[in-house]
Amino acid sequence: MSIRSNRKEEHLDLAKKFYQDEKPNSFDKMHLVRPALPETKVDLEAIKTTMFGKKIAAPFFINAMTGGSHRSYLINKELGRIANKTNIALALGSASILTKEPNLLDSFLIARQQDPDGALIANVNAKTSAEQAEKIVTELEADALQIHLNVVQEIAMPEGDRDFYWLDNLKKLRQKVTVPIIIKEVGFGLDRKTIRSLKNEGFKLYDVAGSGGTNFAQIENARNTNNVSYLNKIGLPTVISSLMAAKEQVKFTVSGGVRNPLDVFKGLCLGGKFVGISNVFLQALIQHDADYLQNLIEEWQYELACLLAIYGQNDLSSLTKIDKYYDLSLKNIIEQLL
Ligand code: FNR
Repeated sequence: MSIRSNRKEEHLDLAKKFYQDEKPNSFDKMHLVRPALPETKVDLEAIKTTMFGKKIAAPFFINAMTGGSHRSYLINKELGRIANKTNIALALGSASILTKEPNLLDSFLIARQQDPDGALIANVNAKTSAEQAEKIVTELEADALQIHLNVVQEIAMPEGDRDFYWLDNLKKLRQKVTVPIIIKEVGFGLDRKTIRSLKNEGFKLYDVAGSGGTNFAQIENARNTNNVSYLNKIGLPTVISSLMAAKEQVKFTVSGGVRNPLDVFKGLCLGGKFVGISNVFLQALIQHDADYLQNLIEEWQYELACLLAIYGQNDLSSLTKIDKYYDLSLKNIIEQLL
C-alpha cells in the first residue's frame, strides 16, 4: 500500500477512535422559538428539495470522507448504495490521490456505479491542477466539485504541505471546471474574509465545515510524534462560520459537528441550503452496518419532517425567519465577529 493510501486508512481508524457520540458544540448554544400552535402536519414531502438539478429526499447529505484505498472502496460502495436507496446526495473524499495513483479510481467510481442518477459531489485539494480536476469530474460524472482548504491539517502533518499560495490555482480551477465549485474547509471553519475575497473572485458556493465535530488536528496528531495538540483548539465553530457565510449572502452548506436531526434543522435555520454529515454517518456504517446507516438516514428524514411540524413550517422556504437566540458565550463571539 502506498503512503497516501495508508494515510486514508489511518484517517478511517482515527475518525473512529476519536468519535464521541453527541459531543457538545456550538449548535447546543443556539436555540429556536417554536409556535405552540403550529398549524402544520408531519409530511415527508415538506423536506424534499433539489441539488444541482437533481431531486433529493432531504436537504442533508453524506459529506466528503474517503476514497483511494481498499477499505475506502468498500465504504464508498456502501455509501453509494445507501445514498441511492435513501435518495440523498453524497460527497466523496479527496480524489487528488488519483493524480499520483490513477489505479485507485475504482475506489471512487464504485460510488457512482451504485448511485448512477444521484447527486454526487467530487472533492479535490486546492493545488490539484484544473485539467486533473476536470478529468476527475468527468470520470465520476460528478454534479459538483468541492475544493477543500485544509491548512491546519497540512501543518499538523509532518509530511503535509508548507506552501499555501492556492489562489491562482483556484482561479484556474474556476475557469476550467464545468460543474459548480464548492469551496470547503475540513472542520476548522471558513472565515468571513476568505468567503468575501473568494466571492469577489466569482466563487459562489461554500461549505463552512466548522469546528465542533471531526477534528483533523487531533487525527493528524495521533498519527505522528510531533505533537501539536494546541492546534486542536483553533477552529471556528460551525454556527459562527455559518453566520459569516449568511452575512456575505453566499449560498452555503452547513457542516462540522452535525450530530442529529435538530442540528440539521438548525443548520437550515442559519441559512444553509444543505447540511453535510461526515463522521456520524461513517461510524453508523463501520461500528454497525449498512442497514443500520440506511435506517438512521431514513429516521433522520422522518425526524426532520417532524421538526418542520414542531416549528410550524410546511416546507423549507422560510426556515431562516424562525426566531433564534444564543447562549451568552456564543453571543459574545457573534458580537465580536459579526
Ligand atoms: C473527512 N473530511 C474530508 N473533507 C474533505 O474535504 N476531503 C476529504 O478527503 C476528507 N476526508 C475525511 C475523512 C474522514 C475519515 C472524515 C471523518 C472526514 C472532512 C469532512 O468532510 C468534514 O468537513 C469534517 O469531518 C467535519 O464534519 P463532521 O465529521 O463533524 O460531520
